[in-house]
Amino acid sequence: MQTVTTVAALRQQISTWKTSGEKIVFVPTMGNLHAGHLALIDHAKTCAGKLICSIFVNALQFDREEDLQAYPRTPQQDLVALRIAKVDLVFMPEHEEIYSEKNQIQINIPKNPLNQQLCGKFRPGFFDGIVKVVTRLFNIVTPDIAVFGEKDYQQLIIIKQLVQDLKLPIQIEQVPTQREGDGLALSSRNSYLNATERKLAPQLYAELICVKKHIEDGNRDFGTLENQAMKRLTKAGFRPDYVAIRNAVNLQSPSYDTEFIAILTAAWLGKARLIDNILLQLV
Ligand code: PAF
Repeated sequence: MQTVTTVAALRQQISTWKTSGEKIVFVPTMGNLHAGHLALIDHAKTCAGKLICSIFVNALQFDREEDLQAYPRTPQQDLVALRIAKVDLVFMPEHEEIYSEKNQIQINIPKNPLNQQLCGKFRPGFFDGIVKVVTRLFNIVTPDIAVFGEKDYQQLIIIKQLVQDLKLPIQIEQVPTQREGDGLALSSRNSYLNATERKLAPQLYAELICVKKHIEDGNRDFGTLENQAMKRLTKAGFRPDYVAIRNAVNLQSPSYDTEFIAILTAAWLGKARLIDNILLQLV
């Protein structure tokens, strides 16, 4: 497994691979790898090609400096895991390699219904930061296929839209959320939970399942279902930002006969902001 830190070295290797007809499969990460990331990598390995994984803690997607400083960084462990997973190349750039002082031309992302709602409403600028880094990473890596998790569902939908809008020749693959035995979605931020909070945390997923059951039973009063779920989460000890039932394809409010539904939530538990979602298909 090669490890490179510069765009120039990465491009050189990619050009050699492309010349010999290899496809490039890409898994971008912010490191602190857990079984959720490894599921993305496992999926990536089923897509024939050279597998590149990036580790880059993107400062632009943190709204508070403490969050950025506190974000868990475990590069040595990550490299061991990626070597065992047989990744071909790891790209680990410094901040300046991606965002140089010379970047004077800013491409600003207009406010739009996809990035202003749900997490975008509670974390202003968050998706701008993600779109900026993913666009740069795509331009650097030029992957044929890129793999993202359903755990960050709004991010996934925004990236699919980005690829469509910019006419990027990249196939986006999505991988289901990986969970602990008690249902808690795997996330680097779970490490912020203390023992009591950790016991309570699976209640978030249990609440999504409860809302799903109501919808499957024919309840289409989405607003009431959302409000009731918010109230139950608050009573249980969470500080929910939102529980939202949306059209899973475009994140708009669903209508009575919407086929693919996403139930999404973000809720604080102590210092951790947990996000989760569940997808369902109505027949
Ligand atoms: O999902 C993540 O880990 C990050 O948002 C991503 C896509 C690597 C961009 O920094």
